[in-house]
Amino acid sequence: MSRITISPVTRIEGHAQVRIHLDEQGNVENAHFNVVELRGFEKFLIGSAVEEAPRITPRICGICPTSHHIASAKACDQIYGVEPPETARRLRELMMVGQYVHSHSLHFFMLAAPDFLIGHDVPAAERNVLGLVKKAPEIAKSAIEIRKFGQRLTEAIGGKPIHPSTAIPGGVSHPLTEEKRQELLAMAKNVQKIASQGWETARTILDGTDLDFGSVRTAFMGMSDNKAFSFSNGPVSILGEDGNLAATYSGEGYLDHIEEYSEDWSYLKFARLKSGSYYRVGPLARLNIVDRMGTDAADAALREYRSAFGNVVQTTLAYNIARYVEFLAASEKAVEYLSNPDITKTETRTPVGQVQQHRGIGIIEAPRGTLIHDYTVDDRGFIQKCNLIVATCQNNYAMDRGVEDVARRVVRNGTLADDAANKIEMVVRAYDPCISCATHAIGRMPIALELVEKTQFYSLKKEDSRIGSY
Ligand code: MG
Ligand code: NI
Repeated sequence: MSRITISPVTRIEGHAQVRIHLDEQGNVENAHFNVVELRGFEKFLIGSAVEEAPRITPRICGICPTSHHIASAKACDQIYGVEPPETARRLRELMMVGQYVHSHSLHFFMLAAPDFLIGHDVPAAERNVLGLVKKAPEIAKSAIEIRKFGQRLTEAIGGKPIHPSTAIPGGVSHPLTEEKRQELLAMAKNVQKIASQGWETARTILDGTDLDFGSVRTAFMGMSDNKAFSFSNGPVSILGEDGNLAATYSGEGYLDHIEEYSEDWSYLKFARLKSGSYYRVGPLARLNIVDRMGTDAADAALREYRSAFGNVVQTTLAYNIARYVEFLAASEKAVEYLSNPDITKTETRTPVGQVQQHRGIGIIEAPRGTLIHDYTVDDRGFIQKCNLIVATCQNNYAMDRGVEDVARRVVRNGTLADDAANKIEMVVRAYDPCISCATHAIGRMPIALELVEKTQFYSLKKEDSRIGSY
């Protein structure tokens, strides 16, 4: 019996494994996307003062800290019965914009681009960020400039470059100074220029790519504000598989529609609709839900995207382009927000008193999809119950089924086609899964792709190349 060694699953945020089970004939019996880390924050938070949650939850993840920070602060506003002043709402929104710019550009330029710009049939040793620097140095350089802006913005408004801490119950603790506004505005204009120029490349990345693999048919979920793209305002909509609006909800209404469940082979939870359908969140879902992005270049890009893929898109790899459309929108929003001097007004907090209600639910659209923080507190504001629902859990079913779809196409008689490993990775990567968020990770585990024969267990080459290095 031969031993097959293939590259590990790389260029995703965190650690995961793909295991393919074969039948007696060496064909695929089933395949799963496994996550081998342990969750914890829903339990750690119990007993904490709820006003600490916006500072604790960003620690869940170094990639999505702002999303947790803002969702948590929104939940706290409800518990203390306060509305943040307009300036605070804009500052929080601007932090979200910064997170989108940072996260989406990182994924597009560093994680996804090597597949498309270098070519997914090129050997893995060249198909990485270093290969990209060689093949398209201007793109690699742009990516670094964009990243700098994202970090500077989080630092200037959130107080720190990685884990922001300024969103507090009732608003934001520090106003933005005029000096910082000017500095950020200049950077934002540059980022917007890069984003607009990059669209010419982004819109073509799937040309000539087989779009069929990793496909799955699902419902979709995402927030919109009067049908426009939104980071944190508005109700959440659910579209059925047919693309028709099936339901909308806000606040605790999520429990009428979503149920979480576990499978014994993964630490990553799953979510599905109570109606029995499975659904997806994130860029693909949001673009299916909105009518418009609300900014010029992104709206033009959305029209092109729709003429290529249709109005309701099920194509998994289209996530990569949808993400770019959102990156464009975020870069334009950054300029818009920073151009308005009102954002430096100093009234950024509504005073907070006693606990007004025992339950607070903060829902926002994180770059990877709908994020829900649901806290129940006692009279003194100590957390008694906590439920977090993150994007990656909601996309878990689609990733898992997508992996099996590819496995069935690429495994024949116990052997993998040459491009098999990367095709599987591309499907997982399209969702930009954040394993840290989804498992609230403890420790480091390697990512591996394993082929399990009926009677034999092969643990294939395990290595941990670029994982978690950003
Ligand atoms: Mg949960
Ligand atoms: Ni994360």
